[in-house]
Amino acid sequence: MSDVLDLPDTPSTVRAARTSTEQWAYAAHRDGALHGSTRDFLNTSAQSATERADAFWHWNSKRIAHGTFAYGKALATAPTAHTSLRYLDGRVMSGLNFSSQDYLSLASHPQVHVAAIEAIKRLGVHSAGSTALAGNVVDGNVLEHELGTWLHTPLVALFPTGWAAGYGVIRGLMRAQDHVVIDVLAHNCLQEGAAAATRNVHLYRHLDVEHARKQLQRIRDKDSSNAILLVTEGIFSMDADSPDIKALQSLAHEFGAMLLVDVAHDLGCSGPDGTGQIGAQGMLGKVDLVMGAFSKSFASNGGFVATHSHAIKEYLRYYAPPNTFSNALSPAQIATVRECIKIIRSDEGQMRRDALFDAVGALRSHLQALGITVMGQPSPIVPVLLGREDVARITSALIAERGVLTNLVEYPAVSNNNARLRMQVMSQHTADQCATAAGIIAQTWEEAKTLVDACELASAEQTT
Ligand SMILES: Cc1ncc(COP(=O)(O)O)c(C=O)c1O
Repeated sequence: MSDVLDLPDTPSTVRAARTSTEQWAYAAHRDGALHGSTRDFLNTSAQSATERADAFWHWNSKRIAHGTFAYGKALATAPTAHTSLRYLDGRVMSGLNFSSQDYLSLASHPQVHVAAIEAIKRLGVHSAGSTALAGNVVDGNVLEHELGTWLHTPLVALFPTGWAAGYGVIRGLMRAQDHVVIDVLAHNCLQEGAAAATRNVHLYRHLDVEHARKQLQRIRDKDSSNAILLVTEGIFSMDADSPDIKALQSLAHEFGAMLLVDVAHDLGCSGPDGTGQIGAQGMLGKVDLVMGAFSKSFASNGGFVATHSHAIKEYLRYYAPPNTFSNALSPAQIATVRECIKIIRSDEGQMRRDALFDAVGALRSHLQALGITVMGQPSPIVPVLLGREDVARITSALIAERGVLTNLVEYPAVSNNNARLRMQVMSQHTADQCATAAGIIAQTWEEAKTLVDACELASAEQTT
């Protein structure tokens, strides 16, 4: 590796100049584009926000330039099973798309497009207000009713995004003296909502009902009266695993708490009649608060909270800030979600779920057969464990060039040296496409490990 080229300062040209893979990896390693994380720029000694941002941008630009920054990509075509993404260094990569969240491939469904266009023609493109004022579109009230009926949890409040629903339900219901007991891996919207609502946030070990019990007991030993919200997800977004919802719901009631389940990744695309983990675990209509996002299986931005209490629904309208102070879903979004629910609950919906899980099974088994650790249980999220961040960054960059587009998840989104590809499958994917992607990933991962070893050896030789 000592005959490495003297590379220019703007290394995106390194790829454009068709240097060898070894030379590219070495340059990325040498320039720090395989190390560090966004966490480094969260709390720094910098006094000003601009200094902090500048420090981040300096590091980030190096990664972009070397092609090891896998974020901030832009769709150049629709997010179907094959797509094109423009990376921040300007390159457009085309290939098999495992990076979009459209589990049932409904974003490209002609019937959904017709419904959205019809709604625009009838009601225009904007809700022009929050749900607390005049932003409710009458069709939105119908959607609330349809969702409530489907979930056997009849009172539904819509939110502008899934994130807003998760944040809003906790921030809206909990007060400073209350407690939130939350799975340590719960999504950012839930953690942020909890942190904004109260300092009494108690983490419990991932999926660990007994640890949740201990936390609840500890709280009730000191505080017999204030509210407690127990928080979990149907399918966890980084690990693709599920809690025992029944056990958590009875635990919540035992301690005078309420249970909140975020079903963003499982509602619509799994379970009987698309009812996700709640349905699959026989808990339909038996969970206190169900919160979801439309962005994974319903082809739209938007979110909701379903409850059995009319009072809670209306309380959220005025006390959940993203409901009260943010504009409501637009007519096209509402029509899109309504049409998706119609399809999801029809025979076609079941066929799409079956096709999705066939593809999931094919992808998982091909990856496992090639010696790769695939985490969690079968779900549209297939987390592919790569380990070290440097190896993962190289793998992720090279597979994109080789025709597999997927998202890289690295520290701090997951723990150190547990970097992974978060592959997201859709019903359009074929078993052949899954086999092709698995083969490219397995071969590239091996190559990346060798490249990183060689980089370390070369830099050790240079320093001695
Ligand atoms: C578990 C979970 N909840 C909520 C959200 C937020 O949903 P949205 O992106 O629709 O705002 C996400 C998003 O990725 C998620 O993974």
